[in-house]
Amino acid sequence: MRIDIITLFPELLSSPFESSILKRAIEAKKVVVHFHNLRDYAENKQKQVDDYPFGGGAGMVMKIEPIDLCIQKLKQQREYDEIIYLTPDGEQLNQPISNSLSTKQNIILLCGHYKGVDQRVRDHLITREISIGDFVLSGGELAAAVLCDSIIRLIPGVLGDESSALTDSYQDGLLAPPIYTRPANYKGWEVPPLLTSGNTPAVEKWRENKAFEKTKEIRPDLLKDQD
Ligand code: ADE
Repeated sequence: MRIDIITLFPELLSSPFESSILKRAIEAKKVVVHFHNLRDYAENKQKQVDDYPFGGGAGMVMKIEPIDLCIQKLKQQREYDEIIYLTPDGEQLNQPISNSLSTKQNIILLCGHYKGVDQRVRDHLITREISIGDFVLSGGELAAAVLCDSIIRLIPGVLGDESSALTDSYQDGLLAPPIYTRPANYKGWEVPPLLTSGNTPAVEKWRENKAFEKTKEIRPDLLKDQD
């Protein structure tokens, strides 16, 4: 898989890819991530990438020309499955969306800043708009990093234990059950005895029940979505 990220602030994006699972995925060539600095595509001497909104109002708008130039250059080199704009007014990211994006070959992520991009970028250049939640970040970079993390960990061979992505919260529509490791007793806080009993089927049943109880308490909306 290849991910091209178009951004005004590439330095905001580098560290998530420099450690842990994402770093390993890149080293193992499961994914290639390229950053493109939008300022390199600015046409005038001032390297201007934003301008005042037509009709007035507060805040600046990201200009269409540098974004178009950058996207066209990338599209000349390969075909893209999706060109995604990260924006708080996009479709809300969830596990099925990440699952589906993790099967793609090439995607472009466009990070917004200021008031956002000229509407014509959204109307003509991108294929999809994604929000990572109902809150506003100062730019799309952190949202792009969140999206990349959720996608890359699902690429086959990225996680050591092939089944572990399947047991994540949300993969089966439920939150994940509690987990424990040694010591079995810490300061008198004990691990549920069943988990150390060696009775695997009973442990499985216990996990299912706990996942269900936890979902019912914290996210009852997820249970309603299932029927
Ligand atoms: N840019 C600013 N806020 C965002 C959000 N919540 N999701 C995606 N991109 C954003």
